[in-house]
This record gives sequence, C-alpha cells and structure tokens, in this order.
Amino acid sequence: MSIKSLISTVVIGLVTCGAAAQDLGVPTSWRKFGNSRPLSERVSIAQNGINTILPQLNTGNAQFNGIGYWQSGNVFSALANQDYYAKTTTNKANVINNLNKAFSLYSNYDQYGWWATSALYAYRVYKDNNMLSHAVATWNRVNAFVITTSNAASGSMSGKSFTLQGSCGGTTMAGAVFWRPTSDDQGVNSITTGLFITLSAYLAEITGDAKYKNAAILSATWIQNHNIANNIVLDSVNAHDCSKSATSFTFTYNSGKYIEGLSVLSTITGDSKWTNLMLNIVAAAVKSSLWQGSDGIISEGASPNSNNDGVGFKAVFIRGLLEAFSRSSNSDLRILIHSYVDVQYNALLDLAASGNNYSSNWHGPSQGFTTWGQLAALDVLVAAVVAN
Ligand SMILES: *[C@@H]1O[C@H](CO)[C@@H](O)[C@H](O)[C@H]1NC(C)=O
Repeated sequence: MSIKSLISTVVIGLVTCGAAAQDLGVPTSWRKFGNSRPLSERVSIAQNGINTILPQLNTGNAQFNGIGYWQSGNVFSALANQDYYAKTTTNKANVINNLNKAFSLYSNYDQYGWWATSALYAYRVYKDNNMLSHAVATWNRVNAFVITTSNAASGSMSGKSFTLQGSCGGTTMAGAVFWRPTSDDQGVNSITTGLFITLSAYLAEITGDAKYKNAAILSATWIQNHNIANNIVLDSVNAHDCSKSATSFTFTYNSGKYIEGLSVLSTITGDSKWTNLMLNIVAAAVKSSLWQGSDGIISEGASPNSNNDGVGFKAVFIRGLLEAFSRSSNSDLRILIHSYVDVQYNALLDLAASGNNYSSNWHGPSQGFTTWGQLAALDVLVAAVVAN
C-alpha cells in the first residue's frame, strides 16, 4: 500500500469513526452464534417453554407461583410477543384475561410499568382496547412521579417531602422518574425511567398524541445526560443530593429497556440522534464483560436454587434487543443481535435444558423446573423465533 493510499485509508477510517463510533462486529470468541433450526421448530420450542410455566399461573390473581409480581408481569410480555412474532393466537385468552384481572385487582399496583408494557404488547398483537386503557392508566399514574421542568426549577414536587436538586453535574434533572411513590424516597432510576420512555414512545406511536412523544424525549434526554458510562446504562441517582450508584452496580435490563425505548423513539421522531445512541448502547452492552465472558453467554442472574430480582433482568435485555432488531434495517445491527440471541438460545438448548425446563444458569447444568428459570428463558425462545 502506498503512503498516499494509506493516508486516505486512515482519513476514511476516521470519518467513518466520526459517523459511527460503535463496533457492530460479531466477536468470534462467542459460542455458537448461528442456528439452523427451521421456523416451525423455533415456534414450537418457544410455545413449549410457555406451556411449561402455565401450570404455575394462579388465575385468581394473575400471578405465577415462585416469582414476584413484577416478574409475573414479564411472563405476559413473552406470551403476547410469542403470538405477535409467530403470528398465532395461542396465548391470547391467557394474556387478556389475566391482564384484565391484574388491573382490576390492584389499583395503583403498577408503579414500575411492567404490567402496562405487557398490556401494550398485548394491544399490538390483539388490538384489544382494554389493553390500551390499562397502559394509559399506568402512564397517567407514573407521570405524576416524573420530575418536570418546573419541578426542577422550583426544587420541589407534590408527593415528595424533600428538596430536589434542579440539576446535577450541570444538566437538568427534568425527565427522571422516581421508582417508589413513598414521599421520602429520593431515588430516581434508569429502569423506571426507561419503562416510562418505552411506554410513552409506544403510546405516541399508537395515538399520535404529542404529549407522549415529548415525555419520551424528556426522559430519554435525562438518561443520556445523567446515567450512562462507557455506553452502558447505570442504575440510579439520588434526586435530593445527586449521588449516584456505583458504576459496578450495573444490570443488563437498564441498557435493555433503554435500547427498546430508543428504538421506538427513533421510529416516532426519525431523529438519528436517538438511533446513534441506541447503536452505541447495543454495541457496548452485548459485548460487556460486566455480565458475560468471552463466550458471550449471559451469566447475570444465574440462581439455580432460589428466585431473586436479578434472575429476570436478562430477559428484559433480550426483549429490548429484539425490538431494536425488528425495527432496524441496519444489517450490521441485525446480524449482531441475531448472533447474540443465538448464543443465548444455543446455550439454553445445549447446556441448560432438561426437556422444556430451563435453568436460570445459562451455562448449565440443566435441572428440574423452576418458575424463575423458565421466566428468564422465555424471551430468548421468543426472540429466536424472529431474529433468525
Ligand atoms: C421438568 O421439571 C419437572 C418439575 O421438576 C419434572 O417433573 C419433569 O420431569 C422435568 N422434565 C424433564 C424432561 O426433565
């Protein structure tokens, strides 16, 4: 190569870097990042995984034995998305009846937005207007816990008994969402804010109402300004004193839910700012040593003997990646997400499966059924239906 062409290669490289700093290449150290199972088999594997958790469903309260209420809300996401992507209605009655049950039993139950997001996936596939109403009711409820521009200016908001910092690190705290309604709880966090972004962006897409789009942009801007390090979404900030959770206190679902919200926000705004941010976070998150080794198999939330909140985080991450895959025409992004999903899929099937039972430890060994292990697996099984 001549010096002249070397220089021009370097210049082109720099220009390319400026436009898209992220590396969307697939690491060759990943374990089995391809798949040759036909669609019909992938649909069966996912539905069999769902059928294996259903005996734990208590239709009297819409909960699954062995997992917590927010995790139960996530099971219905997987059921609705399976029908959406497999183009079936197998899970419709379970989804509609149990979401209606949950929303009728628990007033203000859903401060975290999980059940409302499930209701939106249900609306997307079944077009049942009650599902949309549940999502709107939750949006109205959570919206009261969002720091508005005027709350940030006054340093106070109704429902909270302490002084707010209007800005932290020089940028406004507007858009952050409190994760607990308790009046003295000072924490705002990425998962509650990410769920609100996602809920708002989907509602904007469905209804065309600008208030939802503006809410999604305000909250997406808050995470962008306050809670990202090295393109990984961090956990929480104290709205009273600006202190932050440690950068090591990091979980897949924070990045996953933000990726999902940004994907929908990219669609509804057409603003490449959000698309580029989403690409940066996907590229970092699927290769992060915070939750996986060089084989690429997620090791977060591996808990064979007991449930804990962390078990379901990786399912939320995979669900967010699937939304990004489905909405994007960027072939590098789609190949990366397809490969990452197949790494998890092959790990589950090769290392962690006993029949249709899946361990929450995706490296294995396989074990008998646990509700939390099954919950964690479902989104991977559903993602593999489409991301192949
Ligand atoms: C799945 O788990 C259930 C409950 O532990 C058990 O009865 C069943 O035999 C398991 N299936 C396989 C194939 O291991």
